[in-house]
Amino acid sequence: MKRILQATVTFAAAVGMVAGTAQAKDMKMGLITPPPHIWTKEANAFAADLKAASGGKHTVTVYPSRQLGNEAEVLQQMQSGAVDMAFMTVAEISNRAPEFSALFTPFLVKDNAQAAKLLKTSPTAMALLDTLPSQVGVVGIGYGMAGVRQIVSAKPIQSIADLKGRKIRVTPFAATKDFNTILGTAPTPMPLPDVYDALSNGQVDAIEMDLELTIKLKYWELAKTVVVSNQMMFPMVGIVSGRTWKGLDSADRKMVSELMKKHLDVVLDATEEVERTFLPMLKEKEGLEVREVGPEFYGDAVAEWDKIWLPKAPGIPALRAEAAAL
Ligand code: BEZ
Repeated sequence: MKRILQATVTFAAAVGMVAGTAQAKDMKMGLITPPPHIWTKEANAFAADLKAASGGKHTVTVYPSRQLGNEAEVLQQMQSGAVDMAFMTVAEISNRAPEFSALFTPFLVKDNAQAAKLLKTSPTAMALLDTLPSQVGVVGIGYGMAGVRQIVSAKPIQSIADLKGRKIRVTPFAATKDFNTILGTAPTPMPLPDVYDALSNGQVDAIEMDLELTIKLKYWELAKTVVVSNQMMFPMVGIVSGRTWKGLDSADRKMVSELMKKHLDVVLDATEEVERTFLPMLKEKEGLEVREVGPEFYGDAVAEWDKIWLPKAPGIPALRAEAAAL
């Protein structure tokens, strides 16, 4: 909480902003995830909590499934104040603020539990949130995540050579595009709703995905191999428009921050289910090979990725040290 209040002060200093008077507010929150996804469920739970805690003064209408546009469009609307809040992929944030790419350092964490712990406690990750007001015009409340990324392939994969030249669906952001280019794959940017059809009709050969969605959205049905390496975290961030923040008084900022943080933590904690439930489920699917590998599977790709990203994302060494200490 100290960090959020500090972020508020930094933001106020950055844009000459002071806490507004407490006016009733009906707020809009944009998400790309569909209604059953945990990000959307916790956004709705946050909205219900905020309404109750403010005695009905503040309401939040949650718009899932890209109803307010894709993430770039939502972020633009947050900068103008037309959209108030979002649970947004750090992938999109990193397109505006490249330092956030440190959170995509390959093999930073060994599993989802460690990823969740890092995103809750890392001083480096928290310091990145403090840059959001001046860099992006939004206030960062805290992190959530989707499960760490794996490769789900429609063709059998025995070694990294089998991925060379293959079209791999990625969420569009530079850190993963570079990693794939180093591997010799053809990274193919694509939003989540298009992924099943693209894998099914051969538009892509494989996809970067987490294990929960691999089960729930049935990507496994189209796969011959799932390479489970926990190759990258896939963090999300809970954000509030700077303009909206300006209109909230300090008591309301505290209420919004505490309640949103509570639900982001639920999202982080839920990823623990991946190793407990979804990985064993996947291993039972007939005709599907689950190939569990370590970083050595990827050769010298991490060292090559470091050459590009260490200068652009200076938090990488500190994040590695923090992760190793968990
Ligand atoms: C994806 O683009 O793969 C994705 C986006 C949001 C939540 C989970 C996955």
